[in-house]
Amino acid sequence: MEKWTGGDMHPSYRILMGPGPSNVHYRVYQAMSNPVIGYLDPQILACMDEISEMLRGVFQTENRVTLAISGTGSSGMEASYVNFVEPGDLVVIGVNGFFADRMTQVASRCGAKVVRVEEEWGKIIDPERMIKVLKEHPEAKICGLVHGETSTGVRQPLEEIGAYCKKVDTLLVVDAVTTLGGYDVRVDEWGIDVCYASSQKCLSVPPGLCPITVSPKAMDLLRSRKTKVQSFYLDLGLLEKYWGEDRVYHHTAPASMFYALREGLKIIFEEGLERRFRRHETLGDRLKMELEGFGFKLFAQEGYRLPMLTSVLLPEGVDDLKARSRLLNEYNIEVGAGLGWLKGKIWRVGLMGETCKVRYIHCLTGALRDILT
Ligand SMILES: Cc1ncc(COP(=O)(O)O)c(C=O)c1O
Repeated sequence: MEKWTGGDMHPSYRILMGPGPSNVHYRVYQAMSNPVIGYLDPQILACMDEISEMLRGVFQTENRVTLAISGTGSSGMEASYVNFVEPGDLVVIGVNGFFADRMTQVASRCGAKVVRVEEEWGKIIDPERMIKVLKEHPEAKICGLVHGETSTGVRQPLEEIGAYCKKVDTLLVVDAVTTLGGYDVRVDEWGIDVCYASSQKCLSVPPGLCPITVSPKAMDLLRSRKTKVQSFYLDLGLLEKYWGEDRVYHHTAPASMFYALREGLKIIFEEGLERRFRRHETLGDRLKMELEGFGFKLFAQEGYRLPMLTSVLLPEGVDDLKARSRLLNEYNIEVGAGLGWLKGKIWRVGLMGETCKVRYIHCLTGALRDILT
């Protein structure tokens, strides 16, 4: 190509009511426009320390190794298995949705023997059943679960399974990509050893960073590996040396994303975790009620519905693609389609972080009134 003639790009200001990303606070955008500095600049190191400290707050943990991987949520899933699985290790994973299934694929690519504890999509993995399977496999090294299954809108209870894993020294790996920042994630209290999230959902920061926290028990296990971690980029031992006191160069820190995450976390603590969780709970209930009013049927198991992601079966006669296209093109509202076999059957409507506001519920219901009635 000799010359670019394509002109400027002007993405629309969408109301992001899908499964993520969510809308970004203007202060986060402002923070991102700060000058880029080097990856060992004392100012970026101070920013990283602040991020770690605030992440410990949202993860509700004392774990020293609490940092943000330069990658999206999937990098946390990869890191959780590539660091702790050695070929032949047995891993038990609860599978009740798209992302839990992906977890099994990631684990087996790392060489794990995977035991799948299957459940119908839309239901929780019964903790008693999970514990029974763990008892049948006392050699299991890892138990993996998705806290908020974004494909179905189900919230997995973790307390009982966490207590059992702690008792038998099995590592509990939890995907909190959808829940962190919008729902209680009590890493220490629930006995979670490795918990990862994403910047772009309830933290309301652009996609690109993956907060992760690792217990001392898991770090000890990592140090006692017989083989090297296959991935250099996701090696938590190396990341610890960069984020911790050693400050050994590992990769070029995405400075602008660090500024964004720092600001996003500050906004969370200005609001307070409790208030933030209550906001998600209250407005999640409100949205569910409104959608039921249009004839949508709630898909996820009652009592275990995520506040920040509501999955609904479409009313008879509604054309999935047409209705979602109209919402996007005429009303600037994004809602999510179904994943996997739920494609065309459900919508996934997000109320995450900055988007979790009553005015956006009004925008969606107003638009639906025009489109559906
Ligand atoms: C529960 C869950 N896990 C993992 C992922 C993957 O995260 P990312 O798309 O940020 O890589 C997602 C993405 O939506 C998710 O919802």
